[in-house]
Amino acid sequence: MKSSEIRQKFLKFFEKRGHAIIPSASLITPDEKGITNPTLFNTAGMQPLIPYLLGQPHPAGKRLVDVQKCVRTVDIDDIGDKTHATFFEMLGNWSLGDYFKKETIQWSYEFLTSKEEGLGLDPRKLYITVFEGDENAGRDDEAADIWRDIFMKNKIEGERIFYLGVKSNWWEAGENGPCGPDTEMFYDVVNRFSGKGITKTDFFDADEKRDIVEIWNDVFMQYEKKDGKIIGKLPKPSVDTGAGLERLAMVMQGVDNIYDTDLFREVMDNIKNNSKNWNLKSARIMADHVRASTFLIADGVLPSNTDRGYVLRKLIRRTVRHADILGFTGHISEIPEILEEEMKFRVTLRQGLKEFEKGVNAFTLFSSYGFPLELTLELAKEKGIEIDVEKFNEEFKKHQSLSRSGAEKKFKGGLADTSEMSVKYHTATHLLHQALHEVLGEGVMQKGSNITPERLRFDFSYGAKMTDEEKKKVEEIVNQKIKENLPVQKVVMSKAEAEKTGARHFFGEKYGDQVSVYFIGKDMESAFSKEFCGGPHVENIGNLGIFKIQKEEAISQGIRRIKAILK
Ligand code: ALA
Repeated sequence: MKSSEIRQKFLKFFEKRGHAIIPSASLITPDEKGITNPTLFNTAGMQPLIPYLLGQPHPAGKRLVDVQKCVRTVDIDDIGDKTHATFFEMLGNWSLGDYFKKETIQWSYEFLTSKEEGLGLDPRKLYITVFEGDENAGRDDEAADIWRDIFMKNKIEGERIFYLGVKSNWWEAGENGPCGPDTEMFYDVVNRFSGKGITKTDFFDADEKRDIVEIWNDVFMQYEKKDGKIIGKLPKPSVDTGAGLERLAMVMQGVDNIYDTDLFREVMDNIKNNSKNWNLKSARIMADHVRASTFLIADGVLPSNTDRGYVLRKLIRRTVRHADILGFTGHISEIPEILEEEMKFRVTLRQGLKEFEKGVNAFTLFSSYGFPLELTLELAKEKGIEIDVEKFNEEFKKHQSLSRSGAEKKFKGGLADTSEMSVKYHTATHLLHQALHEVLGEGVMQKGSNITPERLRFDFSYGAKMTDEEKKKVEEIVNQKIKENLPVQKVVMSKAEAEKTGARHFFGEKYGDQVSVYFIGKDMESAFSKEFCGGPHVENIGNLGIFKIQKEEAISQGIRRIKAILK
C-alpha cells in the first residue's frame, strides 16, 4: 500500500466516524508562544492543537483528524538508523472533550487490522503498552481492560499487554500544557514472535533491536501542567493520537526500514545512482536531511545563524558533507535556497583547504571550517601528511559535549562560545539559577539562557516583578558563594542516577542514557548547585568577580528575564 493511500484511508476512516478533516499546520510554531514553547518546530501532531486540548472550542468541532507535518531535531544522532526521521508526518485523530478511551482504542485496533476500511495488519503481531501509574495518576487498568476485551473478542491469544512507566507511557510536550497517560501499539515487523504471546523481557529486547516498532500512540489527555508541575485536571478529558506515516508505510510495504518505503525510495535511488563511494548511513542521512530542508524552506525558513535558520543551515551542511563522503556527483538539491547554501558552504570548505595546506590541525579544520575528519584524512593521504587521529577524537569528544545543535542550546544551557569570560558567565548562570530558587521559591524554572563574553541573560518562570530587596538578596547569595571559592565538579552518570541526585534539568527534555552533572560545592550532597549540563565551567568560582544584576524585566506573561554582569 502506497503512503498516499495510507493517508487517505486514515482520514476517511475517521471522517466516517464523525471527525472533521483539518489541514496540517505549518512546521513553524507560532512566535507568540515564543519562549514558553520550547520547540522551534511542531514536533508532534498535538502541538498546534494545544489550546483546544485545554478546552478552547475548535471551529471544526470536537472530533478532528489530520496529517501533521513534524520536525524533530532531538533525535538527530539517530538519523541513519531504520526508523528515525528529522521530518515526518503524524496521522492523528482527536477528541476534544468528546469520546475517550473505549472508542479511541477500539478505532485504533480497527484501523490497523480491518481489511476493508483500514490497513489489514495481522492483529497477532500487535503488542501493547499501557501506563503503570505513578504519584500523579493511577495505573491505567481501564485501557488495559479495553485491549484485553478486544483481543479476547477477536480470539487473539497470548500475553501482549505490558505496563510501563512515565518514560514510555506518559505524554507531554514540554513543561506546560495538556498531558496524560498513553497506550502504545507496536508491530512485529520481522515476525520474530510468529504472532504468539511474549514476556516483558522479550518485548524490551525486540524493541531495542527494532524487531518490533512503535506505530501508534493514543494519549488520554487528562491533566494540565504548568512549569513542569501538574496543576489540575482538564475541564474535559481529550484524546490525542499519533501514528507515524513513515513507519506505517514501512509495515505496509513489508520492509524493515523507512528508507525502503515509497516515501524515500526515489531519493535513495537517485543518491545511489550518483554516488561513487556508496555507504548506506550517509545516503540515509542525505535523504533525510534534504527532505527535511525542503519542507522547512517550503514553510518559510531560510538558512541563518539563529534558531530555525540555524537548524536548516546545519541540515544542509551535513548533507553536503555526507554527499562528499558518498562522492555524490551534482548538487544536493535544485531548490535555490539549498543550492545557495551549498555553494556558500563550499567556499568555506575551500578556505579550510587552504588552511589545511598551511598545516592547521585536523580539529580546527573540523570546528572552524566544518571539515569532516574523513576529508582531512583523505587530503592528508594525498599529500603524504600524518594526522593524529587520536588527538582529533579527544578534542572532538570534548567539543561534542559542549556543542549541541545551536537552536536547542539555549534551552539546554550548553555553551557555544568557550572564551574565558563566557565560561565564567556560564558558571555564574548556575549560581544565579540556584539563588533564584532560594529567594523566589521552587516555582522558578529556567526558560532560556544566553551568554556572551559581556554578560549573561537568564529567562525563568515567575509571576511577578522582582522587588529590589529580592534582587539584592540574589546578588548577595551569589557573591557569598563566590567568596567561599567553591570548586565546580563534573560527574558523568546514568540519567536515572543523576535524577536521584536532585540535579536540575529540563522537564520534557530528552537526555541520553549518560548525562553529565555539574555541581558547585565540595561534594554532591552538600553542593550549592547541581545541574544537568554540557559545560564547560570554571574550576573554582573564587575569581568570577562581583556578580551584579543589571536588569530584571518581563518578556512575556509569567516569564522574567535577568541580565547580569561580573565586575
Ligand atoms: N502526542 C503523541 C505523540 O506524539 C501522540 O506520540
